[in-house]
Amino acid sequence: MKYNAGITGIGISIPKKVLTNKDLENMVETSDEWIVSRTGIKERRIADENIAASDLSTEAAKEAILMAGIDAKDVDLIIVTTVTPDMLYPATAAIVQNNIGAVNAAAFDVSAGCTGFIYGVTIATQFIETGFYKNILVIGCDLLSKVTDFTDRNTCVLFGDGCGAVLISRTEEKGIIDEYIMADGSGADFLSLPAGGSRMPSTIETVNKRLHYTFMNGPEVFKFAVKAMPEAVTKLIEKSGFNLSSIDYLIPHQANIRIIESAAKRLGISMDNVGITLDKYGNMSSASIPVTLYEDFKNKKIKKGDNIILVGFGAGLTYGAVLIKWML
Ligand code: UT7
Repeated sequence: MKYNAGITGIGISIPKKVLTNKDLENMVETSDEWIVSRTGIKERRIADENIAASDLSTEAAKEAILMAGIDAKDVDLIIVTTVTPDMLYPATAAIVQNNIGAVNAAAFDVSAGCTGFIYGVTIATQFIETGFYKNILVIGCDLLSKVTDFTDRNTCVLFGDGCGAVLISRTEEKGIIDEYIMADGSGADFLSLPAGGSRMPSTIETVNKRLHYTFMNGPEVFKFAVKAMPEAVTKLIEKSGFNLSSIDYLIPHQANIRIIESAAKRLGISMDNVGITLDKYGNMSSASIPVTLYEDFKNKKIKKGDNIILVGFGAGLTYGAVLIKWML
């Protein structure tokens, strides 16, 4: 027997501190005009020094659980998708498990770059559909400011901090309709945090060479993204038996407005039906998709019964998409 899965609660946590393009003009050689015209980003949020991924995750998870109306003790599994965990180990998900009192839950992190949330939802859905679990928290959380070199104009204008969580539960109706995830590891070097792992352990030299910050080959990632997002949506649509005309809304990963416009155009989807938050939050990696979903639900762009595609790409390189029927 196959059970149904659906999103029954959603929550976010966004730091209050705003870093504007004007602020960045005082930090690196850039301009508000360049950043807006090349990326669409106007400002982003930056977490305080003492705040880590588990702090934002805990807040977002509590809101999602509250909305779903369940007790933390009823959560069976917590998945945190992140490339900026509190530490290399233990998993940030385990810290969240303790913070929210989910004493009956298993916990692990998923590292799939900015596609993390899509991977997390896909994993959770399998656990629900087989009947193994009933309630799973999927938390997309990244604090990219913590691993951004604020002397590197190629990257520091892009990233911001944030977190979005959903509760995925066993439901009567099918809320998560289909999933597609993929990777192309030949592009692993295009987007990485080179040092601090087993390949290049931390030394004075790695610190001096600034190897603990995000490295990105922007044009290569751009080329990948404009191909990967439409491909993921097309594969998902084929697999699901739906067609694009029955899709009400698209929520893409928020990296660059030019990438999003190009994907929407290739798919024949009007920008009126595409969720955008990058102007105010920048690229929050794993958090971009759930935060945009939350905001467009709260401002009523998304309505109960809508067919929505979530689509992402990121470090790995990874990409993927999920088709959901909105149930809230
Ligand atoms: O979540 C996934 C993560 N990343 C992405 O999705 C990023 C994908 N890539 C991109 O979004 C774009 O490649 C960027 C926004 C990063 C860069 O835009 P671009 O149009 O590809 O610019 P470019 O890297 O080809 O650089 C064009 C010029 C260069 O100057 P020259 O060599 O032509 O004189 C850069 O040095 O723009 C310069 N430049 C900047 N100028 C002002 C690069 N960054 C900046 C900056 N301010 N911040």
